[in-house]
Amino acid sequence: FRTPLQRMFALAFYTIIICLSGIVQCTVMNLIIATTRKFTLNKLKGNDLKKVHPQLHQQTARADLLQSPEAQGVVAGCIFLITLFLFIPVPFNQHITESQNVNLTDNEFVEMLAALLSVCCMLLLGFVDDVLDLRWRHKLLVATIASLPLLMVYYVNFNSTSIVVPKPFRPLFGMTVDLGWLFYVYMGMLAVFCTNAINILAGVNGLEVGQSVVIASSIIVFNFIELFGNLWRTHQFSLFFMLPYLSTSLALLRFNWYPSQVFVGDTFCYFSGMTFAVVGILGHFSKMLLLFFIPQVINFVYSVPQLFHFIPCPRHRLPRYNASTDQVEMSKTKFRLSEQNVLGRVSIALLRLLHLVHLEEGVGEDAGYVECNNLTLLNLVLLWRGPMNEETLVRHLLALQVICSLIAFVIRYPIAFLFYDI
Ligand code: UD1
Ligand code: MG
Repeated sequence: FRTPLQRMFALAFYTIIICLSGIVQCTVMNLIIATTRKFTLNKLKGNDLKKVHPQLHQQTARADLLQSPEAQGVVAGCIFLITLFLFIPVPFNQHITESQNVNLTDNEFVEMLAALLSVCCMLLLGFVDDVLDLRWRHKLLVATIASLPLLMVYYVNFNSTSIVVPKPFRPLFGMTVDLGWLFYVYMGMLAVFCTNAINILAGVNGLEVGQSVVIASSIIVFNFIELFGNLWRTHQFSLFFMLPYLSTSLALLRFNWYPSQVFVGDTFCYFSGMTFAVVGILGHFSKMLLLFFIPQVINFVYSVPQLFHFIPCPRHRLPRYNASTDQVEMSKTKFRLSEQNVLGRVSIALLRLLHLVHLEEGVGEDAGYVECNNLTLLNLVLLWRGPMNEETLVRHLLALQVICSLIAFVIRYPIAFLFYDI
């Protein structure tokens, strides 16, 4: 933004993208209303597992909230992609008008197309998951495959696999370390993590979209701050994605907030995760992105014993609804501790030692079972704070997400000098 002309162009970009984002928000809201019935008719619907049962409250209006259209994330995802397709001519007009002089291996244009391809792939695969209910191993494979276009472009454009070592580790590793192919493994795993981390921190109305809105807003604030730094181009690139993404998600949140009228499905979780991974990788701020994912990282680490089947993992781990109190409580799993492998027994012992689990022994007919809460951050909050209304629970989790974003900014700015030369 050094010259007045550059500033004028930047202003024009942001005006166009902000206007587009406004239009996008209205379009998504109208489309959700228009397609709700079609989704339900085509059996794309799910039971809200934490609402009153019709037999119990047949006369109340809330009974008809029980079934909601599923996979509405596909509406938001498609509109998000269409917006970006329409936006391509704005920043890249010189590539279109002077096509003969463009070096296609060294510019943001190729990055943008590869990024769109990855997001598009993930949207499609997420929708397939909603329709076919894929197994977990397939979900991991799917995200890895969708990240390949992105990694190829990174390889062709940058192929920079060195990382600056944080100050405390420099006596051991030196100033920089070249990770080579391991760097690509790291980026592939980042994409897999981002797509699945949002999906497993889910199950209460508004949480999938709410957390994504907080993460997207944090990224936007970070990008705006960094627009004044040397790497302003990559942060501007990230804004091209994040501004329309935020407006589509806000529109979806209106319908998904408690009591939710629609479910966003795995489609939304996957396309959101891939959008974050795309901007984090191509914007060169993957470490900062991971800091914005602190609650998801905690949820993943806490979930490991169930995700890797050290102890049994039921199909749904979301909190249990108690109709008599209209509150949600921890959901639990019953199993024989003696039948679990050594990793299962060790993880339960460790969690117990750290007071991170609610364990009831001597359960079942022969008193040979233990009952423990499902290992999710939602249940952990309920363990510490007790049963609460579903909306209060989602507010607690979103407040935690905001606090973690603030911590990320503190680590990145005021105390960054402890880790890097700034
Ligand atoms: C993930 C979680 C699972 C959790 C589910 C809920 C893991 C390994 N998997 O599975 O434990 O139960 O998400 O999203 O952690 N639903 C509600 N209220 C909501 C959102 C969803 O009742 O606010 C229910 C609905 O029945 C909906 C279903 O969850 O149809 C969607 O589940 P799905 O996204 O298919 O579950 P997974 O992502 O496989
Ligand atoms: Mg899901």
